Amino acid sequence: MATRLIVLAAGKGTRMKSAMPKVLHCLAGKPLLAHVLDTVGQLDPASINVVIGHGADQVKQVISDQSSHKLTWAIQEQQLGTGHAVQQALEGIEADDTVLITYGDVPLTRGSTYQALLDVCDTQTIGLLTLIMDDPTGYGRIIREGGAVVGVVEQKDASQDQLEISEVNAGVVSIKGASLHSLLERLNNDNAQGEYYLTDIHALAVKDGLNIQAVHPKDPWETDGVNSRSQLARLERLHQHHLAGQLMDSGVTLADPSRIDIRGTLQVGTDVTIDINCIFEGDCVVGDNVTIGPHCHIARSHIADNSVLLANCVLEDAVVGEKATIGPFARLRPGTVLATGVRIGNFVETKNAQIGVASKVNHLSYVGDSIVGKNVNVGAGTITCNYDGANKHQTTIEDDVFIGSNSALVAPVRISAGATVGAGSTISRDVPASHLSLSRARQTSTDNWVRPVKK
Ligand code: UD1
Ligand code: CA
Repeated sequence: MATRLIVLAAGKGTRMKSAMPKVLHCLAGKPLLAHVLDTVGQLDPASINVVIGHGADQVKQVISDQSSHKLTWAIQEQQLGTGHAVQQALEGIEADDTVLITYGDVPLTRGSTYQALLDVCDTQTIGLLTLIMDDPTGYGRIIREGGAVVGVVEQKDASQDQLEISEVNAGVVSIKGASLHSLLERLNNDNAQGEYYLTDIHALAVKDGLNIQAVHPKDPWETDGVNSRSQLARLERLHQHHLAGQLMDSGVTLADPSRIDIRGTLQVGTDVTIDINCIFEGDCVVGDNVTIGPHCHIARSHIADNSVLLANCVLEDAVVGEKATIGPFARLRPGTVLATGVRIGNFVETKNAQIGVASKVNHLSYVGDSIVGKNVNVGAGTITCNYDGANKHQTTIEDDVFIGSNSALVAPVRISAGATVGAGSTISRDVPASHLSLSRARQTSTDNWVRPVKK
């Protein structure tokens, strides 16, 4: 006996008005379908069959690249209904398996809700996720007799009385493999939409003597699907609001919980403060007592204890050591590794650069493909010329070096320990330790100079 998943994701999503399949649109930086797959993956299923149709190749490619679970793809060439979709995905489903059927465009259902459905399912019982809605328009209605669920009627097939029912079908079902096979064989498309409705299995099951056990989500938003961009935006805000709540519960101060976006995971220490409009992407780690100023975009980066990011910094695959001060307006690109107490100031760009303890790059500089030692001072406007038009070369700046402002360091080049580079130099040869290197033209002043006048 195994748990097997069927995820329906063949629909076009017409109302998204998009060339991209609906299930690839992102919530919190991750495709809708990937949210569902990640959650059902926690149920430790023996297999996950995903039904695709519209944009099948694109869905397969994008999702296979990110999913840690092995997926079985079932192609539904024509979207003839949810029942027909499930009929395409029966590969590997044995009689005593427990099957959970869900939708690829409903991203926020909790794992515990799926588990509750699995728990009620047995040879005599089908689990069905239902909820009461103030406005049930558009949903399938749950028909009960003497309290027991006896069927589901679609909006378009419902009588006036049935339309008054406020309990709706959320679409998620748990069912034994044997029941599923037998019930699906008996579906027809004799209804208002001419579709094979998955929802018709319930009335058939009741005739077979099975019970339909309704299970409710803990929160109503768990069953919210995405059909339009405004629904997507609404779910995004709701999800971000929950993530912000979790951060605050874990001891983070947020200047405004409605102005933070987490598109991945954010691991935080104690007494972290985050100002407005910060975006965290991928897996980020922020240590104790870190302060992050407004409008920072931080992707896949690690910021150690007691560091400060001032306003408008962009970090990508960067590691910031303890007690560092970054920004405002600093850009740390991939491969930046800053040691303790480093200072990176405004309009500084770093890339593939290791910068040692207590070194400073305070203004308007580019440090790329570089190894910088301890206690180095890189003056304003210093550029490492790392690219010769074809290849990248390394710059090495050893401990206690002082680079004067507006210097160009033409790589490959090494500035040895304790050396000083005079302002405005173009350094294309190695500088020996403790020497002063100066390459600018000597200044001259002309006596009796008269400015030309306009004729
Ligand atoms: C379905 C249910 C309805 C329920 C509602 C909840 C049926 C007949 N109706 O209606 O009772 O209240 O969901 O949201 O099941 N899909 C396919 N292939 C198809 C048709 C659909 O893969 O041929 C997929 C869609 O991509 C989507 C999901 O199934 O992810 C649901 O399809 P949708 O058309 O949105 O169903 P509803 O009409 O909303
Ligand atoms: Ca729908």
